[in-house]
Order: sequence, then C-alpha cells, then structure tokens
Amino acid sequence: MSTRLLNRDTFGDPANTGNLLPEEEANALLTEWVPNERLRLHMKQVAANMKAWALEKEGADELTARKWEQAGLLHDADWEKFPDDHCRVIIEELEKRQVDPDVIRCIASHGPAVFGVEPVSKMDKMIYAIDELSGFIHAAALIRPGLYEGLEVKSVLKRLKTPSFAAQVSREDIRDAVSRIESSLEELIQFIIDHQKNIS
Ligand SMILES: [Fe+2]
Repeated sequence: MSTRLLNRDTFGDPANTGNLLPEEEANALLTEWVPNERLRLHMKQVAANMKAWALEKEGADELTARKWEQAGLLHDADWEKFPDDHCRVIIEELEKRQVDPDVIRCIASHGPAVFGVEPVSKMDKMIYAIDELSGFIHAAALIRPGLYEGLEVKSVLKRLKTPSFAAQVSREDIRDAVSRIESSLEELIQFIIDHQKNIS
C-alpha cells in the first residue's frame, strides 16, 4: 500500500471549534472538486452513516452530528484532483476555511496506515470503520439485480471472505478498524446497509 504520510498530529485551530462549512458551501466544494459521481455518492453515503451513527449510537446533539456528517462528506474531497496528495490538500483547505479541528482531525485519521494519523475520538474511529466498509457494501449491492433490496449481512460477510471481490478494499483495514470500536462487524454492516441504501 502506498503511503501519503501527513507527518503531523495536530489539525486545525481550537479557536474554530464549532465552525462548519454552511451546507451550500460544502456541497459546492464537492461539486467543484469531485466530478466523479460515483465518488460523490460514496462521500454522501459515508456522511449519512456518520450522522446517523452520531445521533443513534452516540446520542450526539445536532451540532456534533453535523460535524460527523461534514467529516464524512468531505473526507475524500481531494482524491480525484490530487491523488498523490490525497488528504493533505483537503485538510489544508479546511484549515484555511477555519473549520472545526475535530472535523479536520477526523478526516486525517480515516486511513491510519496511509496517512500515519491514529484515530483517537469516537468520530475518528467511526470514519475509519465506516469508510472502507461503506464502499465495499455498495460494491456488493451494485452487482445484485435488486441492489440493496434483500441484501443481507451474511452475503456481505461471504464477499469479504472472497479476496477477488472488490480486491482493492483492504480486509486488514476493516478488521483493524472494527477492532477499535464497540460494535461488531455484523452490527456495523447492518447499520450501513440500513443507512446508505436510500442515499443518491
Ligand atoms: Fe472514502
């Protein structure tokens, strides 16, 4: 796996705590930076899962849930245009736009093996756990005639054990990420199916 180590461990400015991009600005950034519709959908799915997890599992308040959502929405924003500098570019952009440091750190920790930033908060750990699994589950849905209709946890588990299916998805990352959270792999798969199936 190629690494794009960030070589830093603090992100954003604590003075910006509570600042988020207004929804229109976040969506405009996505439209401008991410022409690829499939990638945009992935980010919207991760955002929906993150927000729902914050509200349903962490009892988060509205602002906190929006932080989780925004981190999910923007975590891959620089992937398409700046693949060699993925993560660094969006992080610096959000620092420039004075976004809440928790959101920026969360984005920086969505791939510890790649970016060298350890997930610390629950938000950090959940983006790491949700990101790859969300993409994997979507790939599993896309090959079914009914897409998400009737998609079961056990069939996702079976595909995870099939190395040739969505081979680019690191099973090791998924295992590592899930080992850091309080939920089981089965429970997380079901949660993701339920919360991303209607996102378009
Ligand atoms: Fe992602």
